[in-house]
Amino acid sequence: MSSIHRLLVLPEEPIGTINPMLHGHFAEHLGELVYPGIYVDPKGSIPNTAGIRHDVVEALKPLGVPVLRWPGGCFADTYHWRDGIGPVDSRPMKVNTHWGMAEEPNHFGTHEFMEFCTQIGAEPYFAGNLGSGTPGEMRGWVEYCNFSGNSTLADERRSHGAAEPFRVKYWGVGNENWGCGGNMSPSVYAAEYLRYQTFVNSYPGAPVERIACGPNGNDWNWTEKFFEGIVESKNAPWRINQVQGFAAHYYAGTAGTATQYTEVEWLHLLARGSAIEGIITGHRSIMDRYDPERKIKLLLDEWGTWHPVEQGKPGGGLYQQSTIRDACLAALTLDIFNNHADKLFMANIAQLINVLQSLLLVEEDKCIKTPTFHVFDLYQPHKGAQAVRMVHASELLSLSDETVSSCRTNFLDRNFRGLQAVQGSASLRDKTICVTAVNSSPSEAVEIEVSVRGAKLGDVETVLLTTSDIHDHNTFDVPDKVKLGHAQRVSSKDGVIRVTLPPASVIRLVGSL
Ligand code: AHR
Repeated sequence: MSSIHRLLVLPEEPIGTINPMLHGHFAEHLGELVYPGIYVDPKGSIPNTAGIRHDVVEALKPLGVPVLRWPGGCFADTYHWRDGIGPVDSRPMKVNTHWGMAEEPNHFGTHEFMEFCTQIGAEPYFAGNLGSGTPGEMRGWVEYCNFSGNSTLADERRSHGAAEPFRVKYWGVGNENWGCGGNMSPSVYAAEYLRYQTFVNSYPGAPVERIACGPNGNDWNWTEKFFEGIVESKNAPWRINQVQGFAAHYYAGTAGTATQYTEVEWLHLLARGSAIEGIITGHRSIMDRYDPERKIKLLLDEWGTWHPVEQGKPGGGLYQQSTIRDACLAALTLDIFNNHADKLFMANIAQLINVLQSLLLVEEDKCIKTPTFHVFDLYQPHKGAQAVRMVHASELLSLSDETVSSCRTNFLDRNFRGLQAVQGSASLRDKTICVTAVNSSPSEAVEIEVSVRGAKLGDVETVLLTTSDIHDHNTFDVPDKVKLGHAQRVSSKDGVIRVTLPPASVIRLVGSL
């Protein structure tokens, strides 16, 4: 039976501009992501330009990938950039010690990554090696990429075919340095961060922004002690200006497997997904004490689901399927990001292809879109628009005690109150309003009533992402099992729109005020 959930948009209560980079992505040298997900033998049978697969570019280009983080992940703190430049055949063979001792031929390096970014129109975001590198190595990489003048490193870049500097703006100073990036304490990392970032220089015409390694989930202590280490209590308050961005990681994990789960497990995962809101508010409230002017950008540079590896795939490759459940989690996460558009600067789902909650799955010469891809597509109109507050009058779904306690205490949101049946976000661009919403119930349809305070909505266009079974996903044999529905016109009555959301579905409404 369907119940009514009211969504009231408050256009006069702007939150902030939705940075398109909240739809960012992440590509690590891990499993089948880079090889063959992005890069194949340039002379082989899979259609490519300079080794970059045509099918992947064709799928990603219309999505407008705003930013792409590379080369890791844990891999970043073992990566030595010089291994990935120069003639491909002379590059060293390395072993990927984090990810299944896989061979790393270094055929995809700085120039190939930049070529991929150019082909899909993405801004590059490099993760530098603080864990096993040196400040000099990181400095050299920045100069190699960004210096337009006369230096040996800039000349070397030119000799490898890039006459113009790459002008890479975003530089991560290490990755997960509390774990795979060196197992540091927050105060040790703060000292290392200050040292390394000193040498991540801006060059003429190529300003850089340095991104510090933030916490894992709800590790409030990391955030507190990192900033304490940066300012050294009251002795060096100016040092806070050395941090332009601070990047947290949060994985919702799994419940059941990627494709096999009960309704209880469905709700468990979505509840843990929605607890990302507490991660954002918890860390931003600590940051506000050290940075009251809110100059430091908050990033979530890894997020998403993490299921057991697909049967038949190597354990170190993190290959997983993505169902309508992952899609609903992605949708409610992007809605939460919109509702924190005043602080959140960038967010990169993990990862782009064949790894964790990917957008694409690629095998030999085939490439398919996952349900998560369709959510990013559906939510495109929000990018760059003004997020405005939307009040939800929606009931809470009943969760198991285990789910509630997992969300509250284990590693998530201390304020967690439950999972709303319907949640969403709203944005405004000129006079066009876009509302997105998720029905998180795996079994109940709901009716939503959307209205705008101070204005009457006219007719709207709606697009739904829905499917008949909560386990549905796309495969190489059936690539379009889960896809966006056709746009429908829905008439308003007295300025109010009423539509039914099937169980486990995502909707977008676009209309004029
Ligand atoms: O995305 C997979 C891994 O998750 C990354 O390498 C690491 O940063 C995180 O622990």
